[in-house]
Amino acid sequence: MESTLTARDRVGVQDFVLLENYTSEAAFIENLRRRFGENLIYTYIGSVLVSVNPNKNLEIYSKAHMERYRGVSFYEISPHIYAVSDNTYRAMRTERRDHCILISGESGAGKTEASKKILQYYATTCPVTDNMSTLRDRLLQSNPVLEAFGNAKTLRNDNSSRFGKYMDVQFDFRGAPIGGHILNYLLEKSRVVHQNHGERNFHIFYQLLEGGEQDLLSKLGLERNAQKYQYLVKGCCPRVSSINDKNDWKTVRKALTVIGFHEDEDLLNIIASVLHLGNTQFGEGENGENQITTEPQLKYVSKVGTMNEQYPPPPNTHTTHTHALPRRVNRELQFCINYCNEKLQQLFIELTLKSEQEEYEAEGITWELVKYFDNKIICDLVEEKHKGLISILDEECLRPGEPSDISFLEKLEDTLGGHAHFVTHKLANGKTRKVVSREEFKLIHYAGEVNYSVNGFLDKNNDLLYRNLKEVICQSDSQVLSQCFHREEVTDQKRPETAATQFKNSLAKLIEILRSKEPSYVRCIKPNDAKQSGRFDEALVRHQVKYLGLMENLRVRRAGFAYRRHYETFLQRYKSLCPGTWPNWQGRLADGVATLVQHLGYHPEEYKLGKTKIFIRFPKTLFSTEDALEARRPALGETILQAGEVIQSAWRGMKSRQRARCRRHAVDIIRKFIKGFIYRRYERCPENEYFLDHQRFSFLMTLVRNPPKSVLDKSWPIPPPSLTEVSAHLCRLCMQNMMRAYCRRIQPEWKKQMEQKVVASQIFKDQKDSYPQSVPKLFVASRLNSEEFNLKVIQTLGNDKVKYGIAVTKYDRRGYKARPRQLLLTSSFAMLVAEAKLKQRIDYASLRSISVSSLSDGFMVLHVPSEDNMQKSDVVLQCDHVIEVVTKLATMADKKIKVNMSQERIKFAVARGKEGVIDFTSGPELKVANGKKGHLLVTAPKLNP
Ligand SMILES: Nc1ncnc2c1ncn2[C@@H]1O[C@H](COP(=O)(O)OP(=O)(O)OP(=O)(O)O)[C@@H](O)[C@H]1O
Ligand SMILES: [Mg+2]
Repeated sequence: MESTLTARDRVGVQDFVLLENYTSEAAFIENLRRRFGENLIYTYIGSVLVSVNPNKNLEIYSKAHMERYRGVSFYEISPHIYAVSDNTYRAMRTERRDHCILISGESGAGKTEASKKILQYYATTCPVTDNMSTLRDRLLQSNPVLEAFGNAKTLRNDNSSRFGKYMDVQFDFRGAPIGGHILNYLLEKSRVVHQNHGERNFHIFYQLLEGGEQDLLSKLGLERNAQKYQYLVKGCCPRVSSINDKNDWKTVRKALTVIGFHEDEDLLNIIASVLHLGNTQFGEGENGENQITTEPQLKYVSKVGTMNEQYPPPPNTHTTHTHALPRRVNRELQFCINYCNEKLQQLFIELTLKSEQEEYEAEGITWELVKYFDNKIICDLVEEKHKGLISILDEECLRPGEPSDISFLEKLEDTLGGHAHFVTHKLANGKTRKVVSREEFKLIHYAGEVNYSVNGFLDKNNDLLYRNLKEVICQSDSQVLSQCFHREEVTDQKRPETAATQFKNSLAKLIEILRSKEPSYVRCIKPNDAKQSGRFDEALVRHQVKYLGLMENLRVRRAGFAYRRHYETFLQRYKSLCPGTWPNWQGRLADGVATLVQHLGYHPEEYKLGKTKIFIRFPKTLFSTEDALEARRPALGETILQAGEVIQSAWRGMKSRQRARCRRHAVDIIRKFIKGFIYRRYERCPENEYFLDHQRFSFLMTLVRNPPKSVLDKSWPIPPPSLTEVSAHLCRLCMQNMMRAYCRRIQPEWKKQMEQKVVASQIFKDQKDSYPQSVPKLFVASRLNSEEFNLKVIQTLGNDKVKYGIAVTKYDRRGYKARPRQLLLTSSFAMLVAEAKLKQRIDYASLRSISVSSLSDGFMVLHVPSEDNMQKSDVVLQCDHVIEVVTKLATMADKKIKVNMSQERIKFAVARGKEGVIDFTSGPELKVANGKKGHLLVTAPKLNP
């Protein structure tokens, strides 16, 4: 704020405490007027915000504006509703205490708008997580619904709230809004049945008729014409240019969904039935009883619940009901509103004084007594037990006999006669008697005098809504309607509390809530009665300034000192005015401020130094300091400019020196490198030292950054000569490590597979053409499953178990006739089986060797000694998995079997010293045929080059 103090002549002062003539109401209003003329609608009285309704949209509520006020100290920036919002929020978070913002002012002064601005500020600036955004939307969307049902067009405000509102927003420890609730006070119910000329009923009725879809209206039995409804035509202005009911309807429907209200249909039925009730006519029956003469309306009203049968005729006729009620309500309502304002004013004065006094105490400054008007006397007049106005009213309502409004007035005169703030026609002297009629009493409120007519006071205070009506409503099967009254109210035989006592109690609760929180205040003022922008009606504003107690507030605030700031802020701003504190003060802040004000020549009576703040008594002291700062600015600017140049050149010099150093270093390195390269083959010497180290380093770093990734990865960087040995060592270690890790990881199944593959590799690698193709194909446990074994054969085995079986073709040694057989392997022998017959058994111990060809065929010859009569001679077999079969045989016979790999021919023994021969040759495809000289000729394709 200080930054704009110099512009004070143009737009007044931003804080009334800086007004020189602070006791002058005229000066106060002139300041408001000047600022209003510049669209500066906000001004402070210390921490209280005064807001003047601009009646036009100002460009001061954007997101950018919110950001500007976020986290910024209250007085550093021009007054704004966002500053109050932010300050309250931050104080709540740092002090961890509840806060409240109290917004007050006349109808149309901008209270509702201010509350919406505050909510929007929190919705935009507070931290919100995803799941909380629903809550934020609910908080914001509660407004359109509240306004639809609680606001109406009045002469003073097209969107006048016809109820008082207390809204609670709860924040969690991170400062995120996590909940809220709303309390309503004093809803003006009478508006439903009557509106003054130029006013409307609550918005929702017009919204439904204008915006509701045709289907919906038909269902509710409504017509799209407000003129048709008695309850909507009293004020003669169902349409208003500033209100778009159709659009507002859409907003309200959407808002109902957002806030999670699901009984829409129920609600619309109730709204419609109110309109129908308004059109219901009553007549006299044959026996003089009251009778409803408009059947169709009743049909729709009954839709709301189970009310058609029991609905009792009202005790009064329709006309008296609508006319008598509002006049009575308004009297008493006005009394309640004024009483409420009186209480809030009392709280306001008490808390402002208290906070002022607390600040003095905290700062160790002697408190100076402030004279102010304490309106406790008026509050007592209204609410005191036994002697107060409300007590007397209740007493009169309850007493036996024939109490009346007039007997109430007389009782008031008896009890309160002589009270300075209470006057009646009888009590008044000749001069004032004229302005108080015989049926009135006058209260002298702190904000002005108000006459109240006693007519209807007793009736209204009794607030007797007939018990059977409440009962019927409670029984309705409409969810919403049945919850309108507490069931206890219907069953409880106790007399309900009177309206005034109910209000007194709820007000006491509200004051208690407010008292438990740290208050901030927004005081709204409306500049004219015509809702016009740019018009400032001085008389109207003066009235509001008076009854809002703003002059009182200013006097309290200014009683001691006009201006106070933390030492740090003060010193930071004015330190350039004193050589002792410029450019920086090194000691305690309080000493710095003392040095500064001494240099400035402050007189002792002009200021006081507290514990953390300086208090300045008169605005003129501060203004002269501001002027001195203003005068010093050019010189200061010059000095700062010069300092800037010096800093700039020093900075540039340092930067270039830094760059030169870097370049020199780089050149050195390159030079060393080149020299080292030239000397790289020499023994280690100073010339190649750097190069060799670098080589070693980069070799090791390459290994660190890019080591082999798996056991199969054989890549390894080429080491420099000095590291050949180390490199080999490292390579081995690395490989071992990987292998160990690999082995640790493998499963037993896979291990067995690998072992067999190793045996296969020892036998066939680089020997047999089909070997490379066999490597990726996994060996299986058996090619035949147990069902394929012949049971008889298995039974002959006894304890031996078949471990592997495969279908093979056996060739006769003479004539080479091919015969299908099963080759079964146990742990000690192999056998050839033809169906149920065991054809040949070959013990591994007597199996001399196995011959296979080097080509891709599947032939193998098992060599068995022929001199043994028990054994038949060699066996010629062919199968699809010759490598697997030979590997299994070799594994089971404990690898002792010799496997011969023949290039072109295999010889085998036929009985009694005779030999058979198989010739192998390459060809386009696998072929087995009888060849020359009784040989078997096998042709096999070449699989690998
Ligand atoms: N800050 C503002 N900027 C622009 N227009 C405003 C502002 N404050 C109020 N208004 C205008 O004044 C009208 C009345 O304001 P608002 O409804 O807030 O008054 P109120 O104090 O809540 O009155 P009531 O007591 O009748 O509810 C608004 O509808 C809006 O047109
Ligand atoms: Mg309002």
